[in-house]
Amino acid sequence: MEKIEGMTNKGSYEIFRSVSQKSFKHEKYFDIYDSELGPYRDRKVTVVEVGVLDGGSLFLWKEFFGPNARIIGIDFNPEAAKWVNEGFEIYIGDQADRQFWNTFYGEVGMVDVLIDDGGHTDVQQITTMQEAIPRIRDGGLIIIEDTHSSMMREFGNPSKYSFLEISKNLVNQLYGKSPLTVVLNNHFSDYVYGINFYESVVILKIDRTKCLMNKEIENMGEEIGNADFREVNQSIVTRKLIATRELLYGNPIFVRKIFRRKSEDRILLLSKYLRKSFGWIVEIIDGILYIVKKLRKNSKVKQILKSSILNMSRDK
Ligand SMILES: C[S@@+](CC[C@H](N)C(=O)[O-])C[C@H]1O[C@@H](n2cnc3c(N)ncnc32)[C@H](O)[C@@H]1O
Repeated sequence: MEKIEGMTNKGSYEIFRSVSQKSFKHEKYFDIYDSELGPYRDRKVTVVEVGVLDGGSLFLWKEFFGPNARIIGIDFNPEAAKWVNEGFEIYIGDQADRQFWNTFYGEVGMVDVLIDDGGHTDVQQITTMQEAIPRIRDGGLIIIEDTHSSMMREFGNPSKYSFLEISKNLVNQLYGKSPLTVVLNNHFSDYVYGINFYESVVILKIDRTKCLMNKEIENMGEEIGNADFREVNQSIVTRKLIATRELLYGNPIFVRKIFRRKSEDRILLLSKYLRKSFGWIVEIIDGILYIVKKLRKNSKVKQILKSSILNMSRDK
């Protein structure tokens, strides 16, 4: 990368080791910082970190992101306010308090990167994440650190209401933008298009422009007409059902394949009519098949998990 005036090429670990003020981080975070935050360096970005303590990470981010970045620290401890004298913006408040976040974002505006290294309780992490999601700019990140608190007794964990369990569930919500799934479209998937899980760190990737409904597309390449061997795993009933669904829901690729000479618009109109009149029959057959398939598949997966050398069985 081209070196720019006032900008360092040092990695985050090197900077962390060299700043004069105390910072506490976990060793494995620095690879994550370099790969996930690298693209934001020397840009005009707004970076917020919850958890100031002795100020070390403020100086780490200042050097890492470069002179064009706006670095903002948040802490419950009023002592943190002294770092204003070093050119940082500091807000004193409780990250578990929604009113605090309203005031904060009202004054600061939209943010590019939010790093949560605050109190690490589930309530604090969940509130911070929820309040941040609509206030992060497209292309931005929310980084929740020290999520091992979700596995620590002193935080009342493990629990199904731990931050980590809640975040795992959010992975399901990402599928609200897939037309092939039963997950309903939801607000989460209007903002978040990806989640990265690392040991002790969870990263949400925000970009409203990437949160569109997904769709199957094709290129202009020559179609040889090879048999699709995915069908080998399917019964004749399933194959017919899938074909009927493709027709009823007007998948343009499928429709074009079977009605080459007809216009897509007319087929879509026909699809709509058929779906209205006979869709319920397909839904009933689909429901019955789903139950049978689920039972058969579950017992097979249990067997596979048990026989794996990794012994990943959930029954263990
Ligand atoms: C782990 S330390 C931060 C370490 C710092 N980022 C560093 O790299 O050295 C946690 C900080 O979070 C602050 N904190 C704890 N609970 C908080 C809350 N509810 N809201 C805001 N800050 C909180 C603490 O006062 C403490 O300064």
